[in-house]
This record gives sequence, structure tokens and C-alpha cells, in this order.
Amino acid sequence: MESYILDWFNLLLRFLHVITGIAWIGASFYFIWLDNSLQTPPEWKQKKGIYGDLWAIHGGGFYEVAKYRNAPEQLPVTLHWFKWEAYATWITGFILLSLIYYLGADTYLIDPEKADLKQWQAIAIGIAVLAAGWFIYDLACRSPLAEHGLLFGLIMLLIIALTAWGLSQLFTDRAVYIHIGALIGTAMAANVYFTIIPAQRELVRAMEAGDVPDPMWGIRAKLRSTHNNYATLPVIFIMTSNHYPMTYSHPYGWLVLVALVAIGAWARHFFNLRHKGITRPMILVSALAALAIVAWLIIPPRVISQGNVSFNQVQSIIQQRCSTCHSRKPTDKQFTTPPAGVTLDTSKEIQRWAPRILQRAVQTKDMPFMNRTGITEQERGKLGAWVQAGARTQ
Ligand code: HEC
Repeated sequence: MESYILDWFNLLLRFLHVITGIAWIGASFYFIWLDNSLQTPPEWKQKKGIYGDLWAIHGGGFYEVAKYRNAPEQLPVTLHWFKWEAYATWITGFILLSLIYYLGADTYLIDPEKADLKQWQAIAIGIAVLAAGWFIYDLACRSPLAEHGLLFGLIMLLIIALTAWGLSQLFTDRAVYIHIGALIGTAMAANVYFTIIPAQRELVRAMEAGDVPDPMWGIRAKLRSTHNNYATLPVIFIMTSNHYPMTYSHPYGWLVLVALVAIGAWARHFFNLRHKGITRPMILVSALAALAIVAWLIIPPRVISQGNVSFNQVQSIIQQRCSTCHSRKPTDKQFTTPPAGVTLDTSKEIQRWAPRILQRAVQTKDMPFMNRTGITEQERGKLGAWVQAGARTQ
């Protein structure tokens, strides 16, 4: 019952996290596109202090957008700020992280084969990494390094690599990915909270007081918002990667993560340039080529043949190692309904799932979940041999 209720919280939070994340990243994409697509307005608009405008059509109507060089003559009664999307994404994400990885640390966070941490130790490490990550990034943004975009990006990538490697010595494979995703997401939300929104407040304050706003705020906010922009694709990749064990459960999963973060940021560069009217297809082509190379490098090794494996042998392995969870009536104390809807009760079902059994139990080896049922390498080999010989049930 307890795990049933937790599942509902999990579903609700994940739903809210995805919705708020879409609203945040969607607004971010929209405004970046807007900024990069502005054109020189007609003279009468320029006289009003408008330095760029554009027209759009959407949902059956025309929109006219104008961006002011400084500020309008008068503050409008209603001014939209776009900040709760970011905060709500972070808050729901952090609760979800706590619910799955911290409350369920024994299942999802701690890998006793890597480090036999106590629950509180593992949680403390996780949270410390998020805090330290923000601290280091924030410090770097305030240093002269921030003026050199490419070098800054490379150094951040190096820090991500070191953190991912360090975490991979301590946590489960999935937890490594999620913590790097949370690290980047935390920096993004903190950028909004600590720099971008205060900069906007300063703009409004200066306007109301009839002052010239301090340009330093604008420069800082621009830097952070550029970083956030390049982080969007990598962070979305990391958040969805939990469904793809071929990435996180590879022996060099941490390096795969670094490569995919770099490729994601590089791909984002293409869109940033394109909005400005510069189309460099080679960026996208090289990003795809790099992705293909990564995919090729991490192809799972071929399964060593185990001779003839009968279906009876397979069925008994599955019953012993998988059916505690993957059954209509699971006996596992945590998974009270068949995970991912996969039931392996009948020979038909086992046959139907054969390709996924090969993938998860033989190649990426992340099933049985945390190897809670203690499958042996030899048994994995047998499952693999059976699938590759045609997955016959007679
Ligand atoms: C302790 C519980 C547990 C055991 C034992 C277990 N699994 Fe899973 N399985 C899960 C969970 C949780 C998920 C859903 C999360 C995911 O996909 O990673 C899952 C998902 C799956 C999926 C569906 C996702 C996909 O890739 O299509 C397959 C197939 C699978 N397991 C195969 C197996 C096989 C084969 C075994 C036995 C060798 C096994 N599992 C043992 C918990 C378990």
C-alpha cells in the first residue's frame, strides 16, 4: 500500500515537473527566438524608443511585438515576468529527486558494490554536489573567465566530467545521470532567481525612480541567460536518458554523459545562429555525426554463445530472477505492480519480450533491477543465447 501511494505522488510530481519544465524551456526558446529575430522597426517606432520589432501569426491572429532599447515612457499596468515556470520546475524536480532517489536511496541511489554508503551519507553527498556545483559555477561567472565564452564552456564541461566520474564511483548509474541533470538544472533556476530577475527588478526600479539603470545588471543577466540557453538541450537529454540504459549503464556511462552534454550544447548553437539568419548546417551535421560515433563506440559486446539453451532453462531463470517483479502478482516488497507493465508469466509473454530481455538483461545488464535477485553472468549468457537462436518456446 505504501509503495502504491508513493507511486501516485511520483506520478503527480513528474506530471507537474514535465508541465512546468515545458512552460519554462518553451518560454526560453520563444524569447531567444524573439530576440534573435527582431528587425529594425519603421521610424515612428524608433522615435518611441523601440529598437526591434517583428510580426507573427499564430492561433488565428496577428501579433506585433516591439522591444525597447531602454524602457517605455510609462510602465504598463500589467507586466509579465516569466519566473514561476523556472522556480516551479526546480521545486517539483527537487521533490521528485528526494522522493525517488533520497527516500528510496537503498533502491535507486546506493550501489553497495561501488560504495556501501548509509542513506544519510548518500543524500548528503547528493545535496552537497548540487550546492558545490552552483557555488563553483557562480564563482566562475564572476571571474574574468566569463568573458571567454568557449573557454568557459570547456571548463564547465571539464567540471561536469570530473563530477560525473566522481559520482560514478559512489552512486548507481542512474543516480549519476540524474545528479548531473539536477546540477545543471539547479544552476539554471538559480541564474533566474539570483541574477536575471534581480536585474529586471533593477530595470523597473530605475525606471520608476527616473534613474538610468546600472548596466552591470544587464550584462550579468545576459551572461546567465546565454548559459541557460546552451544548457537547455543537454539538461532535457539527461532527464529523458533514464529510459535508455544503453547510455547510463555503460561502463563509461559518465563519459557518454559528457559527450552527450557537449553535443547537445553544440546543436543548440546551430539554432542560435539560425535565428540570427546564419545557417550553418555543418554544425547540426557534425553533432549528428558525433552522436553516431558515440552510439557506435558503445555498442554492447556480442553475447558469447552458450550452445543450445532450452526454453525450460530460460523459463526457470526468468521465474527465479525476474518474476519477483515482472508478474501479475509480484512478490517484491517494493514493486507491487509489474514494472513498466512487463509481465513474464507465460511462455508467450517471455517470447514477446525476448528482444527487450536481450537488451536489458544481457547487454546493458541493468535488469534484474539492481540485480536484486542475484542473476549470474552464466544465466545472462543463456538468456542471450536463447534470444539469438530465435527465441523459440518449443
Ligand atoms: C526488483 C525488481 C525487478 C526485477 C527482479 C526485474 N526487473 Fe525488469 N524492471 C524493473 C523496473 C523497476 C522497470 C522499469 C524501469 C526501467 O525500465 O528501467 C523494469 C523494466 C523492465 C523492462 C521494460 C523496459 C524495456 O526496456 O522495454 C524489461 C524488458 C525488463 N524489466 C526485463 C527484466 C528481466 C528480463 C528481468 C530478469 C532477468 C527483470 N527485468 C527483473 C524491475 C525489475
